Amino acid sequence: MIKACLFDLDGVIVDTARYHFIAWKALAEELGFEFTEKDNERLKGVSRMRSLDILLEIGNIEMEQEKKEELATRKNDHYRSFITQMKPDEILPGATEFIKELKENNIKIALGSASKNAMTILDRLQLTDWFDAVVDGTKVSKAKPDPEVFLKGAEELNVLPGECVVFEDAEAGVEAALAGGMKCVGIGTPDVLGKAHLVVSGLHEMNFDKLSKL
Ligand code: BG6
Ligand code: MG
Repeated sequence: MIKACLFDLDGVIVDTARYHFIAWKALAEELGFEFTEKDNERLKGVSRMRSLDILLEIGNIEMEQEKKEELATRKNDHYRSFITQMKPDEILPGATEFIKELKENNIKIALGSASKNAMTILDRLQLTDWFDAVVDGTKVSKAKPDPEVFLKGAEELNVLPGECVVFEDAEAGVEAALAGGMKCVGIGTPDVLGKAHLVVSGLHEMNFDKLSKL
């Protein structure tokens, strides 16, 4: 029986990828190379430092750890200048309705995100109070596809992995859910998320009935 839903944040509840893109692109330009939207796809679900490594790989640039940390901080400051201005109308279609429906049916909900900015975003979207647990980039040591983030979520909710459904837009996130022994709904397209138990284009396509049939 399904007792809990675990949500990824970026790309599932809110579209922050475009803010990450603006900030990474500005950094790439400063370093003297172009960073495209296609390149940005590679950063979805990936931690901040790993994202920087991918960016530097694209620009064919090597640098010391200290300099990398300085760049990552600068990128994050730029990114935060956008997310600290976010409003609840940026919540993706259907997310609020689905979360409310889950609560009405006594399903617990948790956040499982790689982002260290997750709390800022949830607060700006006025969603914090809906979550029974929040596991974000400040609480995990292993990145998706490792299941740590979702297993911690299940533990905090006091439910078994087999009683959880994960909602994810990144391939590594789907893999993390499956590795944790959970059901997974992919948010996106089957060509990328085909391993998930069900793929929908957004939470507006979800309801409690579909969840119960997983
Ligand atoms: C993930 C995003 O949710 O969080 C990635 O999909 C991002 O693109 C990662 O790099 C880390 O985010 P932050 O906010 O800690 O830099
Ligand atoms: Mg995501």
